Amino acid sequence: MRDSLQRLRRLRLNPRLRGLRRETRIVPGDLIMPIFVHDGISGSREIATLPGILQFDVHGAVGEIQRCQNLGIGGVLLFGIPSLRDWEGSGARAEEGVIQRVLQLARERGVQIPLIADTCHCEYTSDGHCGPLDAVGNVDNDATLGWLARTAVSQARAGADVIAPSAMVDGMVAAIRAALDGSGYENVPIVSYAAKYASAFYGPFRDASGSSGVFHGDRKNHQLDPANGREALLELAADTAEGADILMVKPALAYLDVLARARERSDLPLWAYNVSGEYAMVKAAARAGCGEERALRDEILISIKRAGADRIITYHAVEFAEGR
Ligand code: PBG
Repeated sequence: MRDSLQRLRRLRLNPRLRGLRRETRIVPGDLIMPIFVHDGISGSREIATLPGILQFDVHGAVGEIQRCQNLGIGGVLLFGIPSLRDWEGSGARAEEGVIQRVLQLARERGVQIPLIADTCHCEYTSDGHCGPLDAVGNVDNDATLGWLARTAVSQARAGADVIAPSAMVDGMVAAIRAALDGSGYENVPIVSYAAKYASAFYGPFRDASGSSGVFHGDRKNHQLDPANGREALLELAADTAEGADILMVKPALAYLDVLARARERSDLPLWAYNVSGEYAMVKAAARAGCGEERALRDEILISIKRAGADRIITYHAVEFAEGR
């Protein structure tokens, strides 16, 4: 009967009604901004493959952290680039390491925005690997755990609010949890890069973190195969059992199915990492006249939230929050 026709368009006919109908919104507080801190520069430096994103020296990074805070952004994720790499990535856990100094200075300045420390060694090792290698050249799982534990404790000591291990080795969360607990940091939470794929979308990050020209391998022996969804759920379950406080899926856009399934299974906070290649594609598409940058960006961010992410780590955070 015509009268009973379900008129779903009623709530789409003008912006006021569409506003009433809208299910998902992005606010700056949903977003977490990655910040690159370089020990070997003074001032800041552009990153060719990541337009609009800079590497900062320690002081500049703290300024950028304060800018994010003033914009109402939800948190910052800190990546360090040491002036020198060595075989054991010692810069990652040095008391005077670049991340430690940023954290200490931000604490001294009374910064309030959450400071999240990326915990990995690929920016600090001579070969750009995430940990020591075994006899056949794979990342040595159990030897890496010791490195991660020490680095995490040193970041917590320097003032990190949250530890974010990204190495994708088995037992990583448990090892870091035990080390933090054993050092008096039982209240420092861990956001685990639990389902992190061996992805081609990390390209520009290699530039940003000073790894291009250093790292020549791939991370397929520890990161997930893009073909696998169920395996990611096992990773999320394992990290939950090991004591992760927050789970992450990375990258975001090509893995929205994984995000949605994770959301259904877990009541832990769930984050997604909208990675460097995803950001760079938007910039490149806009430059090539293939789409309008803000519209592309906002549709991507909302799709990630709609799929189930509570927070999104994204290089778009500052521009979004500034309304650009
Ligand atoms: C390394 C790390 C990577 C990213 C974050 N941490 C690269 C990798 O695993 O190869 C990628 C982030 C991005 O592309 O934005 N532990």
